[in-house]
Amino acid sequence: MNDRPEPSARLAWKRQTMNDKAFGLDRGLTNYGDRDFARFLRRSFARSLGISRELLNKPVVGVAMTPSAFNNCHRYVPDLVQAVSRGVLSAGALPMPFPTISLGEVFLNPTSMMYRNLMAMDTEEMIFAQPMDAVVLIGGCDKTVPAQLMGASSANIPAVQLVTGPMSTGRHKGQRLGACTDCRSFWAKFRAGSVDAEEIAQVEGRLSVTAGTCAVMGTASTMACLAEALGMSLPGTAAIPAVHSDRLVAAEESGRAAVRLIESKLRPSDIITNKSVENALRVLLSVGGSTNAVVHLAAVAGRLGIKIPMSRFNELSDETPVLVDLKPVGEGYMEDFHAAGGMGALLRELKPLLHLDTVDVTGRTLGERLAEPIDWVDRAYIKSFDEPISRVGGLVALSGSLAPDGAVFKRAAATPALFESEGRAVVFNGLDDLAARIDAPDLDVRPDDILVLQNAGPHAAGMPEAGYLPIPKKLAQAGVKDMVRISDARMSGTAFGSIVLHVAPEAAIGGPLAAVRNGDRIRLSISQKRIDLLVADDEIRRRLADHKPPPAPTRGYKALYRRTVTQAPDGCDFDFLAADAT
Ligand code: FES
Repeated sequence: MNDRPEPSARLAWKRQTMNDKAFGLDRGLTNYGDRDFARFLRRSFARSLGISRELLNKPVVGVAMTPSAFNNCHRYVPDLVQAVSRGVLSAGALPMPFPTISLGEVFLNPTSMMYRNLMAMDTEEMIFAQPMDAVVLIGGCDKTVPAQLMGASSANIPAVQLVTGPMSTGRHKGQRLGACTDCRSFWAKFRAGSVDAEEIAQVEGRLSVTAGTCAVMGTASTMACLAEALGMSLPGTAAIPAVHSDRLVAAEESGRAAVRLIESKLRPSDIITNKSVENALRVLLSVGGSTNAVVHLAAVAGRLGIKIPMSRFNELSDETPVLVDLKPVGEGYMEDFHAAGGMGALLRELKPLLHLDTVDVTGRTLGERLAEPIDWVDRAYIKSFDEPISRVGGLVALSGSLAPDGAVFKRAAATPALFESEGRAVVFNGLDDLAARIDAPDLDVRPDDILVLQNAGPHAAGMPEAGYLPIPKKLAQAGVKDMVRISDARMSGTAFGSIVLHVAPEAAIGGPLAAVRNGDRIRLSISQKRIDLLVADDEIRRRLADHKPPPAPTRGYKALYRRTVTQAPDGCDFDFLAADAT
């Protein structure tokens, strides 16, 4: 092979040597104090990748890849990387896959939430530090998509989000099963004694039967839909099953779209705007989506200085109908949503409520996208605007003396009879206390009590999905299916029940939740959007004066986390990563 550059390559090299507006591998040169030497050295080392000079002179699309043996939801990421690379090459740019950390929801201790910000920082810094003109982000499992959107928003170069897609369902005795709403319902039956050990072992092998993310409208699926609603994913790609050939086609097209974005210079800050965040919230409310998405969307928006007040959230909720009939709120699975018309069909139903002048990664406005007709919608899973599942949105924000800075309640997955409740508090002062006593035969608890979990918020515990407190065993065995439960924790997007989450300020930093004692009365009113501790203010103040925060870690990432994590209404991001941080 002739080692002399081709004339065109020579010209390109020279042009880039003389041009400050570097692109491709000439972006962000390593600092040796000699830019030309840095360029020469980088190109020399790049040759060892075995890539031709012709390609090395092209614009570069980074492909943030997240395969990991600890992340079953990302099992097909290597196939997606190949397909994205194919698309990038076919559009005339050089694909450069690079790893970031991967977060497999059920493999992380104490909770994946603690590492979302770490992944966001990894993603942002690797986009920023490495020479790329655009990036395709491949994620899927719960925390990965928000982490990638947060990182890409802060790095703010052209970016396309590609999700891994949902799992397909399994079968058990003629019943379809999908992670993880069915995991929870079978486990509840096992706890109540109506499913035995042999059957639960069978079910274990039938819940998660393919690669991909949880098969219901849990957090991963909700975030996939929100990424598309924000405009950061290609239209129609959120719900394509992980194993469907169209998922690979979507990956290839995402690669091409990233190359076109280099030309159009459309960046995340042009796409993620106040209006597109509101569109995403409309979608969240209409799919009966995960409460976690409220926190994640706040974090993504916060990276660009966008904040949606609680009052606006509730306005949107009161006028946005629930239209999608999927578990955990309804009956279907993500594969049904895709076959029913997916996001394209849903957005057309929501059209009267949406901001149509937002743009997506294709450069088109939402109005232009939705002007195209679609041929068919399966009304079993995507209801019409005029015949919704519910006339109001799936989530509601609460405030009151127990949660002065807010809390979240998923009314779509709750028991309407408990919407207006008053009950006696049964308090657990932390996760260990909960584990030790919830099933104790002598626990003083009645069906109309309110279970309260303290010290499970972001500062105290990294905000695990512990808000889905189990029904105490003796009540479960007596047939109790739901109770009001309150905490500063989160709950899985695949869970259900009358559960108040994300109470802020959290107990560990002296929020009123820390003042609740066994036997106190608590009132929940969904109609008034309030959660109140019925204890006199001066008594609450007296109790909080004695409050001692739990011990803090002193080293490493966990110490950084504890020092800098914000509360749920600010997305639990690190305070120094928000748009207005200095
Ligand atoms: Fe990955 Fe549910 S465990 S999406």
